[in-house]
Amino acid sequence: MRIGDNKSISSYMSGFGNYFSSEAEKNTLPKDQNTPQKVSGGLFTEQLNGAAFTSPRVDNRHTWLYKIRPSAGNYSFKGVQHVGLKGRPFIVNASPNAFRWLPFDIPKAKTDFVDGLITVAGNGDLNSLRGSAVHIYRANASMENRVFCDNDAELLFVPELGAFKIFTELGEIELKPKEICLIPAGIKFRIELIDTEIRGYLLENYGPYLRLPELGPIGANGLAAIRHFLCPMAKYENKQIETELVVKFQDKLWHTVLPHSPLDVVSWHGNYVPYKYDLSLFQVVNSVSFDHQDPSIFTVLTSPSEFIGLPNVDFVIFPPRWSVAEKTFRPPYFHRNCMNEIMGLVYGQYESRTEGFLPGGISLHNRFIAHGPDLETYEKAISQNLVPTKMDDTLAIMFESSLVYQPTKEMLEVSNLDKTYLSIWQGFKAEFKDE
Ligand SMILES: [Fe+2]
Repeated sequence: MRIGDNKSISSYMSGFGNYFSSEAEKNTLPKDQNTPQKVSGGLFTEQLNGAAFTSPRVDNRHTWLYKIRPSAGNYSFKGVQHVGLKGRPFIVNASPNAFRWLPFDIPKAKTDFVDGLITVAGNGDLNSLRGSAVHIYRANASMENRVFCDNDAELLFVPELGAFKIFTELGEIELKPKEICLIPAGIKFRIELIDTEIRGYLLENYGPYLRLPELGPIGANGLAAIRHFLCPMAKYENKQIETELVVKFQDKLWHTVLPHSPLDVVSWHGNYVPYKYDLSLFQVVNSVSFDHQDPSIFTVLTSPSEFIGLPNVDFVIFPPRWSVAEKTFRPPYFHRNCMNEIMGLVYGQYESRTEGFLPGGISLHNRFIAHGPDLETYEKAISQNLVPTKMDDTLAIMFESSLVYQPTKEMLEVSNLDKTYLSIWQGFKAEFKDE
């Protein structure tokens, strides 16, 4: 089946970290070996390694591709300028202040996924395989004869507005708000809009690839289930048309023009694959007696670091759920955290904010910077009748890293920086009286 065929709807295989096999045309996948002398259909064999050859088996990720043409070709890349995309050195702008941004507008001019990227903040160093960057993607146009590839890092899409398709080398993924999608580093893709405008959060992870968290005493089940992760089936396009390939490499964009589409993988087998996940399938675990559990129970995916217990970056959600804790201050409590938190909102209202934190907006609370409920939320929470309550209209997300997120210089100057943010914590009265 070819990419874009009307008869083709996106179809998937289920599982996280599984070793999959898929062929878009019958008998094009070698059955007994990886590198036959001559591949059926005249295809070219190529291995894509997402882990070092000698990685422990449990961590090894690689995929064998059977392509219409080899990726190697007689073309060279030239650097291109990009207004919004930033990388190292993330200018050291972090101050011990909390920040919040209102949603970024979607440009009026024709803008595809690559053009619309804007970097919020980043940390670490991609050449140390440590750190991450958080971007916003915005688009009102599909990528036409243009393909993107991030050689620096894997990409985690968190849509907030609009549905779209991601045509990857390994197949097609349809994505909409309430779902997430991960594209591993080095895999080419093109984005085609289903809705007229799209926007969302994009995590670029330089560290160890994202994986499911350990469950500890929670047991064998709970949080995100392995079988709910969906990997696309092989699909290809055989287009002899000039196609721009834009590559992110060492924090800069580069481009070249190919005489054909590089999305020409007819069959493949491996475990280095893109995947999607429906966040509404996340099984929420929480206290059914009193007090809060720590928000680690909301972790969907985690990228570890060399320090046990200090993740490179966690992807965390605050989804719809019942709130039942008795004799408890139910919204998120005041806290100071050694970890660094970038939050976003997919829809609805976040439980510790009465206003100002909007879908598509962002907040940043770095290392030990105090934050918590706003005054209005606090006053409601200490006097509310603690009956079981369903929080239906909410899906907040968080990228939480052990490294401080440095906002870009531009993000401290944009018009949607909310200069009134700190005032939400004005007006708390000290009522305690000495004897
Ligand atoms: Fe927090």
